[in-house]
Amino acid sequence: MSAELRSPTARDTAWWLGVLRRRALKIAGEPPAPAEPPYFASEQEREAAVNFFNAAFRAEESGLREAHDLADEVGAWDPALAEVLRLYGNEEGWHRELLEEFLARIGGGVKPMGRVTRLLYRAYARAERMETIVLTNLMFETIGATTYRMALRNVREPSVRRMLTILTRDESFHVPLNVHFLKLVLERRPQALGRARRLYRLVFAGLVLLPLASRPKAQAFDRIDKLPLARAYARELAALFDDHPELGFEPPAFVLALLGVKRGASAFAGATSLAAAERAADRENVVVEEL
Ligand SMILES: [Fe+2]
Ligand SMILES: [Fe+2]
Repeated sequence: MSAELRSPTARDTAWWLGVLRRRALKIAGEPPAPAEPPYFASEQEREAAVNFFNAAFRAEESGLREAHDLADEVGAWDPALAEVLRLYGNEEGWHRELLEEFLARIGGGVKPMGRVTRLLYRAYARAERMETIVLTNLMFETIGATTYRMALRNVREPSVRRMLTILTRDESFHVPLNVHFLKLVLERRPQALGRARRLYRLVFAGLVLLPLASRPKAQAFDRIDKLPLARAYARELAALFDDHPELGFEPPAFVLALLGVKRGASAFAGATSLAAAERAADRENVVVEEL
């Protein structure tokens, strides 16, 4: 693989903008979801699916708001990047609509947030510094893409797979896109780098604990065990800056050691890389077998 394909920064804002514009046209032409409600083997599985997709809905809602807020702020210094943020936010808005409709179809609907989710989003909503928002959002996108990808391996029901495929493909594209934002934000504010590195380690340690909260609620649907999910989060989060050693983002070594995760041994290698983004750019392919 060429160095250009391995590094998200090898693609500039104009490239991301062009791809996002093409994707917006494809979204507009996306066929409607099947009217048939999906089949679940048990009520327990259906309820777990409602929980799983409610968590996804909250992530979309938060992503949409942050992207559009940042677009207004970025517009003052980089109009093209602001347009990228707007189109990216629109993709999250489209996911939110799809999920709302999907949740109604599986007889669940949007539920009030649980305690852990509420705490997380409240802390996130208080963030003011741009690099904090972008980095945290990037890390959330990463665990979202990882969870969807793993769920897609276990779920057979066609219309549920359709929903998961859209989310996996698009979130995998959003990860390197957010690395691009973060890199630009840090170039403008290099003094924020030390703080961002500390935040990365802190959020990392928090996110690998999330399966403890999510498994009791969603496992009957996605059939992903606690430890494999925590390990997958750790591997993916650790790999985020592999192409950017110059930024000095080091994952917390004690977390990797506790989970038994070796750096560079990722079974996911490249799933959220720029190369994967390029494959997902036109929204036609999702590569699940990379797992
Ligand atoms: Fe999304
Ligand atoms: Fe996303």
